[in-house]
Formats: sequence, C-alpha cells, structure tokens
Amino acid sequence: MSFDEDAAAWYATATRGDEAPATELLAGLAGDGPVLELAIGTGRLALPLAARGLHVDGIDVAAPMLDRLRAHPGAAGMHLVHGDMTELPFEERYRLVFVAWNSFFNLLTQDAQVRCFESVAERLADDGVFALECFVPRDIPVGGYVEPDAVELGGAQIGVWKHDPVAQVIEGQHIWMGTGGITVNPIVQRYAWPAELDLMARLAGLRLVERWEDWERRTFTGSSKSHVSVYSRA
Ligand SMILES: C[S@@+](CC[C@H](N)C(=O)[O-])C[C@H]1O[C@@H](n2cnc3c(N)ncnc32)[C@H](O)[C@@H]1O
Repeated sequence: MSFDEDAAAWYATATRGDEAPATELLAGLAGDGPVLELAIGTGRLALPLAARGLHVDGIDVAAPMLDRLRAHPGAAGMHLVHGDMTELPFEERYRLVFVAWNSFFNLLTQDAQVRCFESVAERLADDGVFALECFVPRDIPVGGYVEPDAVELGGAQIGVWKHDPVAQVIEGQHIWMGTGGITVNPIVQRYAWPAELDLMARLAGLRLVERWEDWERRTFTGSSKSHVSVYSRA
C-alpha cells in the first residue's frame, strides 16, 4: 500500500476494535519497557502504550505516517526513525519489540523477513520478547480473484487481488466506489505461514514461546485465521 498523506489521514483515526486487548497484552509483555514498534504507523497501539507510562520507540518507512504520529502530544518522548524495518538503527535493548496488523508481511521477500528477525534479535534485551500479529494465509485463491469487502448505502468496497503462491505474494487493491467517486488503495504483501516464521526466528536465535489466535489470547487452532506469536531468545 502506498502510505501517503491520504492513507495517513485515514490511519490516524482508524481502529480495528482490538486496541484495548492488544494494549493490555503488549503492556504485560513489556514489563517496565522499553518498547520498540516496527511499522509503527500513526501510533494506533504505540500511543496507548506510551500513555501507560512505557517508553516507546518506533520505525516506519512512510514519512506521512510518522508526521501524523509526531504531531500527537503523546509521541513527545518517542524516538521515531524513518526507515525500513529490516534494519533497526536504535541504541537501546528492548524488553518488547512488536509488529502488528500484518505489517511484517509488508517485507516482500523471505530474505527481508529473515533480516528483520535478525535485526530484532540484535535489539532485544536478554529477557526481551518479539511479538508479531499476522493473518494465517489459508484458503487464498490462486491467480486473480475479487472479493466483496463492504457494502453500505451509497457505496461499496471490493478487493481485486492477484496471488502468486510460489513467491507467497498477494498484490492488488481495495477499491471503494461511492457517490463521491472511486478510491483505490493498492497493497502488496508477502505472507508466511506460522511455521515459516518460527523457522525465521530460529535462524535469528529466537524460539516460539506463545501463540494465540488473537490479542484476546484465544487458543490458536488449525482453523485460526490470525495469530499473535511471541518469541524469546533461544
Ligand atoms: C497497516 S499499517 C499498520 C500501522 C500500525 N502498526 C498499526 O497497527 O496501526 C502498516 C504500516 O507499515 C509500514 N511499513 C510498510 N512497509 C514497511 C517497512 N518495510 N518498514 C517499516 N514500515 C513499513 C507502513 O508505512 C504503515 O505505517
């Protein structure tokens, strides 16, 4: 997705409805902190964590997203880096590093994803953990497909996608069609199954310690569509 000014304006007020349990779980993992969020965006989770008194730093590749976050008074103490999350140019060692809302899949190659795990391992405190929230890539049609996202009076959104199961890449867009016109939000992601993520963690010297279905800590099962996975030093 191009995380431009318009996207940043949308994300600045966007909620998924899981912010309270996500913040609760993350704060529990963070202890006294500090915390580093990868792909921090406009601070949907970083701001409530900082409001709890935790020191939070972050990195994001999109300047408009960071500009929105910097404009928020709650971000005053944050060290925010404009950059790619494969490299983490921070001095601190963090009690918690996390990446939410499938943002890890914005790294478009297996190499980049492995490099990110390695960089996280370098920045974790000895008792630190890495938490990652991703979708489980089940039942994705191969080739091109269209799916309805939302239907409202006066407008509807569809997703138009192309799925390459060899590269594990999905690219396409959400298209909103309403009385005010058409808006296109392009997205490209490289997904990984939980087992591949666990192997990346092992390559980086980490190991899986917890896996839930979601921030509410529901049990992860074979039919789960998402997961929150937590890794510590091996
Ligand atoms: C769906 S938003 C999620 C933002 C935030 N994590 C949240 O949960 O609200 C995805 C974010 O990933 C960022 N992003 C995409 N690719 C990135 C990369 N390679 N390195 C760092 N950030 C990246 C985007 O700029 C955007 O802010």
